[in-house]
Amino acid sequence: MIDLRSDTVTRPTEAMLESMREATFGDDSRDGDETVRKLEALAAARAGKEAGAFMPSGTMANLVAMLAHAGRGGEVLLEDGSHTLNAELGGIAGAAGLFHRGIPGRRGAMDVEALREAVRPLTRHHMGTALVWMENTHNRAGGAVLPLAHMAAVHGLAREKDVPVHLDGARLFNAAVALGCAVAEISAHSDSVCFCVSKGLSAPVGSILCGTAAFIERARACRRMVGGNMRQAGPLAAAGIVALETMTARLAEDHQSAKRLAEGFHRIDASLCDPKDVETNLVRADVRKSGRRAAQWSADLKAKGVLVAPADIHVLRFVTHRHISAPDVDAAVSAFAELWKNL
Ligand SMILES: Cc1ncc(COP(=O)(O)O)c(C=O)c1O
Repeated sequence: MIDLRSDTVTRPTEAMLESMREATFGDDSRDGDETVRKLEALAAARAGKEAGAFMPSGTMANLVAMLAHAGRGGEVLLEDGSHTLNAELGGIAGAAGLFHRGIPGRRGAMDVEALREAVRPLTRHHMGTALVWMENTHNRAGGAVLPLAHMAAVHGLAREKDVPVHLDGARLFNAAVALGCAVAEISAHSDSVCFCVSKGLSAPVGSILCGTAAFIERARACRRMVGGNMRQAGPLAAAGIVALETMTARLAEDHQSAKRLAEGFHRIDASLCDPKDVETNLVRADVRKSGRRAAQWSADLKAKGVLVAPADIHVLRFVTHRHISAPDVDAAVSAFAELWKNL
């Protein structure tokens, strides 16, 4: 099977498995664990922040960020298509007790003027803005990269209004590779940031939330409240350390594979996707013209040995990663072409 459903399917490397065997087994929830502390310090250094806290998932890192930044009842402003708004089961309201306002965007970047209109203080008529939120790379925008100038504008605006900024950087290292800059240059435009080692970086589990030391202290308490303390998390942290130390530069290969895939689809039919839109490791293919739904395409491709997830009624989302080679890409394109030919 050629598995293009997600980069979370990446398996740990041999070096990760070895480091997991040699990891410490301290109780992170009680006295702390040496390996977890090492991962958190490494992650914070990469992100250019004072401290970090290891989390079981990106979703929890985002939820904890909301809890640690905001009291109950404020508004979170985030782009309409953001993962947190669309795929984290309403944790904003249901678990963090916050409201949200979606801001229209282009390729994941909020319209800054619309954001300016939306940021407001607490008055007797309006709920105040508790948090401004960005996502880089942007999942629903097909792995689009937020330009640094856009991030600086959003951060500047939020600062002017004294509102904190969180960056959902589940695929932050993909953004850094695409921009050709250090991760810290991106996260400099936020007060807190989280990123996943469990996606294209191949570790089995985990995300790290980073920010000021005071923010991370609050985040640790919030993590415990939502059940995120992991006890003997050393082996998971060990894999995360190998991910950060050795697996980030190779993401460029995944971006090349995604480009090759998009070019293949474009050759089949230009309506499927525009390779120019592919900046990182995600490719969205619009199958509307075929008259079939994405779910049907997913089932038909599975029968041909290609796994892919529908992202919308008429959109398939392909994700490239370490286990996808150039011949795999070509085989996936051929399978797709055959189905398209026989429509
Ligand atoms: C942008 C973004 N944020 C958060 C998450 C959630 O991460 P997790 O699956 O580890 O909860 C994802 C997962 O795909 C994502 O793409």
